[in-house]
Amino acid sequence: MRKTIPQQCEVTYNRRLDKAGLYYRLSVQGFKSPRKIYPGQFIHVKVSKSLDPFFRRAFSIADYSSDGTLDIIYKIVGKGTSILRTLKKGDSLDIIGPLGNNFSRPAKSKTIILAAGGVGLPPLLYFSRYLIEKKHPAEKILFFYGGRSKDDLIEKTAIKKMKTKFYPSTDDGSFGFHGLITAAIQEQLANLDLKNTIIYGCGPEPMLNALQNLAMKYSINGEISLEAPMPCGVGVCLGCVKPKMSDPSKYVRVCYDGPIFKIGEVQL
Ligand SMILES: Cc1cc2nc3c(=O)[nH]c(=O)nc-3n(C[C@H](O)[C@H](O)[C@H](O)COP(=O)(O)OP(=O)(O)OC[C@H]3O[C@@H](n4cnc5c(N)ncnc54)[C@H](O)[C@@H]3O)c2cc1C
Ligand code: FES
Repeated sequence: MRKTIPQQCEVTYNRRLDKAGLYYRLSVQGFKSPRKIYPGQFIHVKVSKSLDPFFRRAFSIADYSSDGTLDIIYKIVGKGTSILRTLKKGDSLDIIGPLGNNFSRPAKSKTIILAAGGVGLPPLLYFSRYLIEKKHPAEKILFFYGGRSKDDLIEKTAIKKMKTKFYPSTDDGSFGFHGLITAAIQEQLANLDLKNTIIYGCGPEPMLNALQNLAMKYSINGEISLEAPMPCGVGVCLGCVKPKMSDPSKYVRVCYDGPIFKIGEVQL
C-alpha cells in the first residue's frame, strides 16, 4: 500500500466553466507532494467535513506547479461534486495524493493523439502542457476533444493557447466535427505514419472501449486512463477492479495498478 497522508490545502478559486453550471475548475495552494507529480495521476478528496459522504472522491490532476498550486476540473454528477461546488476562496480542502501511475513520456519524434471525451479532459490538458514544456513539437500533438454538444466542450481557450492541432467534435454537430470522437480520429489516421503514432485517451468507458478497439485495429500503441468507483483509492478494498484482456479471470485495480493502462491491457 502506498503511503497516504491527508493534507489541508487552501482553495484559491472554484470557478464555473460553462453556462449551465455543470463544470467547475477548482484550484488550491499549499499542496505538498512527497514525490514528483506527473500527468495522469489523481488525488482523493474528502468533500465534506462530516462523515456524509463517507468515501473520498477521485479527481485527475488538471494542472500542477512546484509552488504547490494544484487544479482539478470536475463535473457535477452527484452529492460529492455538489458539495465541492460550494467551496469558496479561503476554504480548506482535505486531499490525499498524488495517487496512481502516470502517462509515459513519448520520444519527441512521435506523433501524439490525445483523445479526451467529456470530463476525461483534465489529465490530458495537463499532459499536453507538460509535453510542450518538455519541448515536444506542438504540431506533432493532435488534440481531439469530444462532447455531446458545444456546451460540453470546456476550456477551449486553454487548449488553443497550447497551439497543438485541435480537433473538437460533438455528437450533435453543434461544434467541430459532427460525430463521435473516434470517427474524428479515424478520419485523420490516413494522414499519419501509424508506426510513429501514440494514442493517449481519457473519457467515459464506452468511448475508451471504442478508442481501444480502433487503436488495436490499426496497431497503434497507446495508453488509456480508466475510471471506476474508487472507495479506498490505495489498492485495499477491491472496489475498482477490471478484468485483464489477456486473462479475464485475473483483475487489475484501477487505483493502484492504474489509472493508466496500455491499450489492450484491460477488458472494457
Ligand atoms: C482516477 C479517477 C479520476 C477522475 N477524474 C475526474 C475528473 O478529473 N473530473 C471529474 O469530474 N470526475 C473525475 N472522476 C470521477 C469522479 O470521481 C466522480 O464523478 C465523483 O466521484 C462523483 O462523486 P459524486 O458524489 O458527485 O457522485 P455520486 O453520487 O457518487 O455518483 C453520481 C453518479 O456518477 C457515477 N459515478 C460516480 N463515480 C464514478 C466513477 N469514478 N466512474 C464512473 N461513474 C461514477 C455513479 O455511479 C452515479 O451514477 C474521476 C474518477 C477516477 C476514478
Ligand atoms: S479503490 Fe479500493 S482497491 Fe481501488
